[in-house]
Amino acid sequence: MTSNQDKYSNTAIVLHWLMAILLITLFGLGWYMVDLPKGSDERSWFFGLHKSIGLTMALLALVRVVWRFTHAPPELPETVAGFKRKLAGLTHWLLYLAMIIQPLSGYISSSFSGYKTKIWGVPLPHWGWKSPELNELFTDIHVASSVALLCLVIVHLSGVAAHIYEGDKQILRRMMPGKNGNC
Ligand code: HEM
Ligand code: HEM
Repeated sequence: MTSNQDKYSNTAIVLHWLMAILLITLFGLGWYMVDLPKGSDERSWFFGLHKSIGLTMALLALVRVVWRFTHAPPELPETVAGFKRKLAGLTHWLLYLAMIIQPLSGYISSSFSGYKTKIWGVPLPHWGWKSPELNELFTDIHVASSVALLCLVIVHLSGVAAHIYEGDKQILRRMMPGKNGNC
């Protein structure tokens, strides 16, 4: 399903860039905080911040997936060859999947930590219990999926960079704010 617009809508563009910024922030926080001394105030502060931004990201991911199912993206230019179309489509769907699995695995691991998970200081309903095994399992999934997500982003960025290198800036313009955007 595609639309005959030549650009993504303003809503899709805002969600795309907002989430890209949050994602980079979450990776930075995630890698930094795991090396902080266990039991320190700094560690728990950064964990709290990472979880709040991560849960916000989960809500945005839900909105984005619903938006994507109900709003067709612009059709790719004819110059994009068959296999590149398929690769771009596959990468986009895997990115959506990773955007859901990543925060979900973090949230489930946190629910088995024995502490209440909070979002911006507000405690969420505490349905989990203290289970080091389940906490470790979902932490492993969270770390593995962060590696998968990173690989997908690299493939995604390589695709965009390849278009620009070939002199086709239209692909990037489709996702940039400005003229012809529509909600
Ligand atoms: C898209 C959203 C998220 C991204 C991209 C993300 C990314 C990361 C990364 C890169 C790490 C470091 C992994 C490593 O050790 O190499 C990490 C760790 C962690 N994340 Fe997330 N995260 C997200 C959402 C969440 C959420 C929603 C929660 C919980 C509510 C969460 C809880 C944690 C915890 C507890 C750790 C530490 C794991 C450990 O002890 O090794 N994350 N995250
Ligand atoms: C600086 C970093 C980024 C750049 C330059 C970039 C650029 C783009 C561009 C140009 C498109 C439109 C492709 C087309 O016309 O078909 C696009 C689409 C997309 N991007 Fe990114 N992107 C970046 C980061 C990210 C990140 C971090 C994610 C997700 C985690 C992401 C997820 C997506 C998805 C899912 C689409 C497809 C939208 C759809 O058609 O459903 N992007 N990106």
